[in-house]
Amino acid sequence: MKAKIVLLPGDGIGPEVTSQAVRVLDAVAKKFGHTFLFDSKRIGGIAIDETGDPLPQDTIDACKASDAILLGAVGGPKWDDPNAKTRPEAGLLRIRKELGLFANLRPIVTFDELLDSSPLKREIIEGTDILFFRELTGGLYFGPSGTEELADGQQRAYSTAVYTTKEVERIVRMAALAARKRKGKLTMVDKANVLEASRLWRRVTAKMMKDEFSDLEYEVVLVDSMAMHLLSRPKSFDVVVTSNMFGDILTDEASMLPGSLGMLPSASLGSDGPGLYEPIHGSAPDIAGKGIANPLATILAAAMLLRHSLQLDAEAADIEAAVKKVLAAGYRTADLAPKGSSTLGTIAITDKVLELL
Ligand code: IPM
Ligand code: MN
Repeated sequence: MKAKIVLLPGDGIGPEVTSQAVRVLDAVAKKFGHTFLFDSKRIGGIAIDETGDPLPQDTIDACKASDAILLGAVGGPKWDDPNAKTRPEAGLLRIRKELGLFANLRPIVTFDELLDSSPLKREIIEGTDILFFRELTGGLYFGPSGTEELADGQQRAYSTAVYTTKEVERIVRMAALAARKRKGKLTMVDKANVLEASRLWRRVTAKMMKDEFSDLEYEVVLVDSMAMHLLSRPKSFDVVVTSNMFGDILTDEASMLPGSLGMLPSASLGSDGPGLYEPIHGSAPDIAGKGIANPLATILAAAMLLRHSLQLDAEAADIEAAVKKVLAAGYRTADLAPKGSSTLGTIAITDKVLELL
């Protein structure tokens, strides 16, 4: 097959890790007889520096005309001034909105080889396999917000969580369909004891589970309690669905179960059109340019891209198997290795993935 893939390397370690994922995609294309055409575009801090806009129009146009998008990371201390006109993160939020990417899939799977890199006990995390569905284009991130000057010289700032029935339905449906293909359990996380928007989530989801998904096991957990259960009984979760802000926080917490943020990919999908794939980790400015960043999350994001946007399941599984073999053979990047042990850099560990592909 022939596919157009837009690359959005972004800032910090973004360019280093995306270029390694491209090497892997090229190797897969060769092995399976596909043609992947890559087009690199600007987003985030680098786009602000070069164009004044964290998401230039030509980036949006190229993404809309593509089959899939692979993103590195955005942001860094250089653009962190709270008084700045715009921020790198605004580019990421806008591309999600422009492309209608309402569902953010974040698989949290422990690798047997890395159980000891987690700060948590082996017996708790072993066998964890959770698929998070984080709502991505609504809620607190996109509701009415602003800052007002008060007469007494204070400022008053607000952000609002807003959801409609349809917004809840489409993400819950996607999550429930995924649960049906997995272990058949859906957990919905909200704060319905306090928040009005959460009570809508609660009503809409309960009705759908009764009308459309009565074959699934359904559980509701309050978000504060979920923060605890994720660490005490991670194995009991299958598919978890939640709002934008709660999903942002809980998936960072959950990323500690497999031990390193450096291993976790994510996919952002809409109802049609290209999906956007990225590592969960950020731009890691402290290690940018040193050649030591772990590219495996981005390489696994490339596997998700093949599976979800190009329907190339065998190719995706091939990449995932190669990554597992690299870990099984004992190769580690600095973030995965105990202090003082020998490690491979960004390019060298990708060489191993290519050898084992
Ligand atoms: C994420 C990130 C983003 C978010 C930031 C960079 C805007 O934390 O993808 O989880 O909050 O969604
Ligand atoms: Mn986040």
